[in-house]
Amino acid sequence: MARNIAILASGNGTNAEAIIRYFQERGTARVALVLTNRPTAGALQRADALGVEARCFTRDEWADGQPVEDCLRAHGVDFVVLAGFLLRIPSRLVQAYERRMVNIHPSLLPKFGGKGMYGDRVHEAVLAAGEAESGITIHFTDEHYDEGAVICQYRCPVLPDDTPETLAARIHRLEYAHYPRVIEELVLALPD
Ligand code: GAR
Repeated sequence: MARNIAILASGNGTNAEAIIRYFQERGTARVALVLTNRPTAGALQRADALGVEARCFTRDEWADGQPVEDCLRAHGVDFVVLAGFLLRIPSRLVQAYERRMVNIHPSLLPKFGGKGMYGDRVHEAVLAAGEAESGITIHFTDEHYDEGAVICQYRCPVLPDDTPETLAARIHRLEYAHYPRVIEELVLALPD
């Protein structure tokens, strides 16, 4: 039986779209739900356009966790994917989806991670530090920002004339190339 995936996204949602398209094409699992904390998140429109149910929960509902967990259970969600989701995950959800919830971070953790480090802020910090390389980290999720066990990392160069935008574009290409495939491997390896 195909597994059900939920994607949590706060922003533009280009990763969410890449993941939905990947599984719609492959049929190895199904993205059943996209959840957000921002009513204006591009992820909502992208999900809608691809025929995936999308819902927004308030900050209080996310902090509590119960309404979100109820929604995930009602949709038979087996695996949760964070793709640019910016709130802390409540303990209730971390426990309910232990080793079944992953995040992607646009740097080589533990460098340039933690609260407030997301999107272009990460790339600005990488450039300010004069790093020669950056990359992405895919890791299991816990209650802390960007801290759960690392699953894999992929690297790319930082070029001398990079801006946060050019670096972000290179990192996004890495994300689209690897995140859906890594999610697929994890989902197909879930115990019955
Ligand atoms: C992605 O680059 C993702 O790695 C990052 O937010 C971006 C979302 O882009 N996540 C974090 O920074 C988490 N700390 P998207 O909305 O276009 O998928």
